[in-house]
Amino acid sequence: MNVLVAPSLLASDFSRLTEEINKVEEAGADWLHLDIMDGHFVPAITIGPPVVQSIRRCTQLPFDTHLMTEQPELYIKSFRDAGSDSITVHQEACRDLRGVIMQIKETGAKAGVALKPDTPVAVLKDMIGEVDLVLIMSVNPGFGGQSFIRSSIQKIEECSALIKTTGKEIHIQVDGGINKETAHWVREAGADVLVAGTSIFHSDNYFKAIQALRN
Ligand code: DX5
Ligand code: ZN
Repeated sequence: MNVLVAPSLLASDFSRLTEEINKVEEAGADWLHLDIMDGHFVPAITIGPPVVQSIRRCTQLPFDTHLMTEQPELYIKSFRDAGSDSITVHQEACRDLRGVIMQIKETGAKAGVALKPDTPVAVLKDMIGEVDLVLIMSVNPGFGGQSFIRSSIQKIEECSALIKTTGKEIHIQVDGGINKETAHWVREAGADVLVAGTSIFHSDNYFKAIQALRN
């Protein structure tokens, strides 16, 4: 399986954003993972559409946008207009998940749904075929640098089995505590998009760090 690596910009040096993005692009990153936090769905606040629009000019990398916000439907258009290629919303934040996924697709972006560690894969049973990507959170969303939660592995396997029933190609992305060791476990379980912040941006060689997650 072709594994994609999406460095999470959250762990980068925000005073040197362009340089950090160029470095991971040159090091072989496939997507750039953008963590959007609103201070409500999670306590922290990160970046909004103006920053996304600014960094859009400095890279060709697809922008993989992880919305950790309440009422994500309010922000889809502005992130798409700012240059997001895929937009992932949390199941726990959506009253009408199907409607929100349709809204994302109507903008032309890829649509993803994220599940917190305590949310079972079964919540997606009736609409798995409508998403382009499932994001299995392997830490509780909110900040980087946490330890991988092992029960995520079983969720990836369950998600992989659910996706097979659709006959469609749907990405399984994993986010949180991904390093050389945990990357191996999640790849074996069926994940094909690995998000990593700390293990890439806090390393002294981004190329080696990205390679280590692939192999
Ligand atoms: C957590 C974010 C992650 C985070 C991952 O809420 O969704 O993308 O940046 O960071 P690491 O790889 O350090 O666990
Ligand atoms: Zn994320």
